[in-house]
Amino acid sequence: MNQRDYYRWWQRADLCYRQNQLFFAGRSVQRLADQFGTPCFVYSAARVRDNLQRLHIALNRAGMAGRFTLHYAMKANRFAPLLTMLKQTGLCGIDACSPAEVEHAVSCGFTPEEISFTASSLSSRDLEVLARYDGLFMNCDAIHAIRRWGELKPGSNIGLRVNPAMGIGRADNEKLQYAGETTTKFGIYQQQFPEALDTAKQYGLRVTKIHFHAGCGYLTPQLDQLERIITRCFTFIDAAESVERVNIGGGLGVPHLPDDEPLDLDQWAAMLQRRFGARNLHLEVEPGDYIVKDAGLLLVEKTFAEQKRATTFVGVDAGFNIAPEPAYYNLPFQPLPLRYDGDSACEPVTVVGHINEALDVWYAGALLPDLGNQGHLALINAGAYSAAMASNHCMRGAFREFLLM
Ligand SMILES: Cc1ncc(COP(=O)(O)O)c(C=O)c1O
Repeated sequence: MNQRDYYRWWQRADLCYRQNQLFFAGRSVQRLADQFGTPCFVYSAARVRDNLQRLHIALNRAGMAGRFTLHYAMKANRFAPLLTMLKQTGLCGIDACSPAEVEHAVSCGFTPEEISFTASSLSSRDLEVLARYDGLFMNCDAIHAIRRWGELKPGSNIGLRVNPAMGIGRADNEKLQYAGETTTKFGIYQQQFPEALDTAKQYGLRVTKIHFHAGCGYLTPQLDQLERIITRCFTFIDAAESVERVNIGGGLGVPHLPDDEPLDLDQWAAMLQRRFGARNLHLEVEPGDYIVKDAGLLLVEKTFAEQKRATTFVGVDAGFNIAPEPAYYNLPFQPLPLRYDGDSACEPVTVVGHINEALDVWYAGALLPDLGNQGHLALINAGAYSAAMASNHCMRGAFREFLLM
């Protein structure tokens, strides 16, 4: 990758260099790092709102107005001020995946009626807790869950999470796929579907929704695959007579590298209109990544810079344990210097964290200028599946989070 591309592809009005200083959400990032300390996550409320609004606009423009609902997948980022702000937009409900997430969403202002619940491997105790939330919509992903929910809530409406046996993911990354050739734990396969419908009937449960989520991080090149998956799912929809709604999960991705084509939302929405427009079905989408990922930075402080054999390492005071996506899923969070004048010569360096694990690499080949006494870096795309997945590995779990209003 060349230096021009490294510094160009991610810049936008609210994340860019101004007079050589990195600005985010109208603030100097250096000032944020000095004020808040590191490591810290900063999230832009305006960017989150814009991302959500962009989805609404695309679906409305494609002719889906009044026929869709968005549920924010709170597993991506459950920071309470962010959830409260999302509730205030009135633009989305919540996709929750554990009893604790439901409790948290309710404490942030969402009503049970605004929560769509989809999880795997639920215990009887989980289901008993969930049954306390009248109005919560349950998508069962196994026959065991249908049976137990039927005992707790006979006669209610449910969704069935199905497994289309086809996956999708950014750049066909298999680690991001939830379905496909390999048999996964997610959802009910075609072979078990008649038994699932019979079980629902036994308890007087009405199957009003089909749900599927086949993978994460898809961009424009994967839209054809998404359409094929939706086509496959019509076999489930048509087999369950009382379906009124279809939830196509989340999975909408954002670019991580200069060559990533951003998701063309108009193409995405037009495809959904083509598939669902002629049917009397309400569409649900439950994005996490797309709403919050590019609305967050992780601010870190340089700990050392040193050449080892042919590689120059820049160490920072945060490791993969507080933002595991680069290490687990190969989804790089590009590091940026907080000062950059455009002409500085940059050298490739490997940015690493402070955890005793070989996979604790933030970015190999980061094109950074001589940082001299610049103490900080900002890692972009850190708004999703970062703080929410953090652990205290090596007792290095400390970080802070701030929502910039
Ligand atoms: C059922 C379900 N819905 C939605 C999502 C959100 O996915 P994403 O953040 O990629 O949009 C996930 C992610 O794991 C999921 O499992």
